[in-house]
Amino acid sequence: MKNFTCAYDVPDVPALIREAIQLKKDPFAFSSLGKNKTIGLIFMNPSLRTRMSTQKAAQLLGMNILSVNTTTEGWALETNDGVMNGTTVEHIEEAAAVMGEYCDIIGVRSFPSLSDKLQDTNEKNLLQWMKYSGKPVLSLESATRHPLQSLADMMTIAENKKNKKMKIVLTWAPHVKAVPHAVANSFCEWMKFSEEEFVITHPHGLELDEEFSSAGKIEYDQEKALEDADLVYVKSWCSFSDYGKLQEGNKEWMITPEKLAHTNEAKVMHCLPVRRDVELASSILKSSTSLHLQQAANRVPAAQIVLKKMITSMNKEIKHSSDEFIHAI
Ligand code: CP
Repeated sequence: MKNFTCAYDVPDVPALIREAIQLKKDPFAFSSLGKNKTIGLIFMNPSLRTRMSTQKAAQLLGMNILSVNTTTEGWALETNDGVMNGTTVEHIEEAAAVMGEYCDIIGVRSFPSLSDKLQDTNEKNLLQWMKYSGKPVLSLESATRHPLQSLADMMTIAENKKNKKMKIVLTWAPHVKAVPHAVANSFCEWMKFSEEEFVITHPHGLELDEEFSSAGKIEYDQEKALEDADLVYVKSWCSFSDYGKLQEGNKEWMITPEKLAHTNEAKVMHCLPVRRDVELASSILKSSTSLHLQQAANRVPAAQIVLKKMITSMNKEIKHSSDEFIHAI
């Protein structure tokens, strides 16, 4: 696996989930695999879990880590062509190439603009890092997807598997600001590789990009969607059709213990950070019904198994080119 930007970069998704769960049991199993390799983590947006869990995962593999938040610690980066006489200081073409000189793998977090739909859906920023760094790229959440979160979520689902085909519901949640689609999109994308029943529920006007929502059955009636659910994934997102707009109202969509009464004793998932008593009742977060800490813990083995695969694939390429060199002389 050269790059990790979406589920389709993974040759065998169910196998990756199983391997991540296995690695969680023996986190020091490959503690020298990444020796003398450097990962550069570029955060163009804030992060707690992704930054810390990816750093920890890289440490567990013996890697060196360089981490920078470009909004607070680096130069303001330009992503467009043209004369740079504004506030940006350095073009991404130079910055990414420099990072490529220092690092063997580049991890990038780049949120969507939520104003330029085409630029966001085309993943302009992530693709520029891939093109100009010349190194394998690990997505730490891009404009459209958050694959490391999804892998951790799939691990959590597998760890809470009931002895039957489960009903998993992704429910939209209210929020005070416009939230990107990446986590919801990505969850849908990874659910395409699951055999569980999958239902997506949200108010009218908050349809996700069909590329992702085609993974499940859309049910606009939240109460009906929650009926007999075994797992409820709570997530807010802004409008995709009226791109980037916060849809005010719909406060009654918050998940509460009363709503969970319609379910099959469903566990609740949230990727965090969460707005308490806006998206999700705090009483649920404080109870064993919520799996948010298990999801957060799973971010480490998820990142670790992905980095392991990327390093292994890099080592194979190095071996292949040295074999070709030996063959040529
Ligand atoms: N869930 C998640 O990605 O958290 P951070 O934004 O804190 O990294």
